[in-house]
Amino acid sequence: MKTLIATEKPFAEEAITGIRQIIENAGGTLHLLEKYTDTNTLYNAVADADALIVRSDKVTKTLIDAAKQLKIVTRAGAGYDNIDLPACTARGIVAMNTPGQNANAVAELAIGLMIYAARNTFQPGTGTELKNKKLGIHAYGNVGRQVAKLGKGLGMETLAFDPFIPNNTITQDNVQPCTSVEELYQTCHYISLHIPATEQTKQSIGRRLLSTMPKGGCLINTARKEIIHENELADILHQRPDIKYITDIAPDNHTTLQKNFGTRYFATPKKIGAETTQANINAGIAAAQQIVNFFTHNDRTFQLN
Ligand code: 3PG
Repeated sequence: MKTLIATEKPFAEEAITGIRQIIENAGGTLHLLEKYTDTNTLYNAVADADALIVRSDKVTKTLIDAAKQLKIVTRAGAGYDNIDLPACTARGIVAMNTPGQNANAVAELAIGLMIYAARNTFQPGTGTELKNKKLGIHAYGNVGRQVAKLGKGLGMETLAFDPFIPNNTITQDNVQPCTSVEELYQTCHYISLHIPATEQTKQSIGRRLLSTMPKGGCLINTARKEIIHENELADILHQRPDIKYITDIAPDNHTTLQKNFGTRYFATPKKIGAETTQANINAGIAAAQQIVNFFTHNDRTFQLN
């Protein structure tokens, strides 16, 4: 069994060591393709792989066509908008993710970005505190849940909206469920985004919601850039000089936003939410274990297709 790790953004060394141990103990071999710059290198590397581990790397139909031996692809992380699931299914390839494994790292970054925004991106001058502010969690999955916990630790009044999670799951965490997404945006000073990028959610965060945020409203995005309606966001930042947008995924109009909105806008140079040694170890090892479990006893937990 040949497993290929193909990561444009490499795992920490400790994670690779752990993954190698799991694959080799199961009698397999591990191959590494890191920081690749062209997709042809990736297509060549995957040609004889039985299993593939990726991060945000795009698993396209072309890649699937090139991967003649592939039986399983595991996304070491939560979001799987980078994987062409129908193409996997058509070839009988199992696709999995490793939900929750990097959630704490992303949640910590969301809180860090909130503090960065509240303190005017660390520029001199008077900032604000997060204590007693209302924090809105948009989607109460693994990351959202963790942000809520950390926010409460800072003394924030924490609310959440998630149409797929029962209210009592939210209330038992001492978080207040909102009955609508509109209520969340109208009520909260800080909104932390945790929705996936799907056909339904793409460009769904724009004027309609952002224009209703309370004075001094701040949107924190550690999820996906595709969920933002970028032109409407730019309009709102023009119309409402009190609104801030702080993100871990630079939008396509990054240069314009950076030029026009000073400390009210910030994007990390490259998505770093899950970039901690611990998250790399957790997600990488889970991915390797899931692959071994699949080959040894056809375990399909976390199968996406
Ligand atoms: C995820 O979906 O798990 C996060 O966005 C992390 O993505 P990454 O592995 O590309 O850092």
